[in-house]
Amino acid sequence: MDHATTRVASWGLDDQVALVTGAGSGLGEATAHALAAAGARVIVTEQPHLLEKAETTARAVRDAYGVETVAVPLDVRLVSGDDPGSIPSCVEAAATAFDANGRIDILVNNAGLNIPQMAFDVTEEAWDRILDVNLKGLFFMAQAVGRRMRDQTPQGGCIVNVASQMGIVGYSRRAAYCSSKAGAVNLTRVLCFEWAEYGIRVNAVCPTFVETPLTQVTLNDPAIKADILRRIPLGRLATPAEIAAAVVYLASPAAAMVSGHALVVDGGWTAV
Ligand SMILES: NC(=O)c1ccc[n+]([C@@H]2O[C@H](COP(=O)([O-])OP(=O)(O)OC[C@H]3O[C@@H](n4cnc5c(N)ncnc54)[C@H](O)[C@@H]3O)[C@@H](O)[C@H]2O)c1
Repeated sequence: MDHATTRVASWGLDDQVALVTGAGSGLGEATAHALAAAGARVIVTEQPHLLEKAETTARAVRDAYGVETVAVPLDVRLVSGDDPGSIPSCVEAAATAFDANGRIDILVNNAGLNIPQMAFDVTEEAWDRILDVNLKGLFFMAQAVGRRMRDQTPQGGCIVNVASQMGIVGYSRRAAYCSSKAGAVNLTRVLCFEWAEYGIRVNAVCPTFVETPLTQVTLNDPAIKADILRRIPLGRLATPAEIAAAVVYLASPAAAMVSGHALVVDGGWTAV
């Protein structure tokens, strides 16, 4: 066997342009840091009314790793139109943010929310909000960036959808959330299939519980937290950096043969 086939491909992302949605806090913020640590230039997006949080992340990432960063508004519910914050405006701003010939190499579809409710109590409004952001917004963001990856030279790119272990197993008070995340996992497989010929890899990361603003209320309940910890064989929650590491792996040349995969980072929850 020669070195060309035994040498592990790089885990680095030098000079790649990466866009992370919902990166003003939690897993998105950690992912922006991890991508930059691997050498990527990072477009940090956040909902228009929270843009200051994206600017804070962008500044911190630039200061820590010396890479170019920019903060761009994005509400993934604005699928069309030219409002600042709509998907088309965000993708256009992102593609022209750096001197990179309009390239976007990596999209991390991280934006998401949950409104925990028992299935008997789920309102139509809550259902629509969760599905609009976690599934519809994720798809149309992938479509907008995927078209650019198809049309750019050299062609191709990599999309990582932040789904959840809740896309694989069920859990209480998560009818809409689990449905949206299961949709994200299977959508990942469809996009892998359709876009492979354009050099676009599409994968999902499926985290277990991590302490972020999203899970604060749930984890503040001692009984629920104890139940969660009991279900995780490794006996602890994941950290934002552990989820971000999985995203970086999937985005890197080391994962060049990985597409259509849902990588669980769950301490074993879904294995037992
Ligand atoms: N924290 C966990 O335990 C956990 C576990 C599994 C999966 N996830 C997923 O990870 C992702 C990040 O969540 P987090 O835990 O960091 O929570 P978070 O609340 O810190 O981050 C969610 C981000 O999404 C953004 N967002 C919400 N609605 C949006 C919209 N309409 N348009 C654009 N952005 C929007 C928020 O502003 C925020 O920046 C989500 O998709 C979540 O479902 C989280």
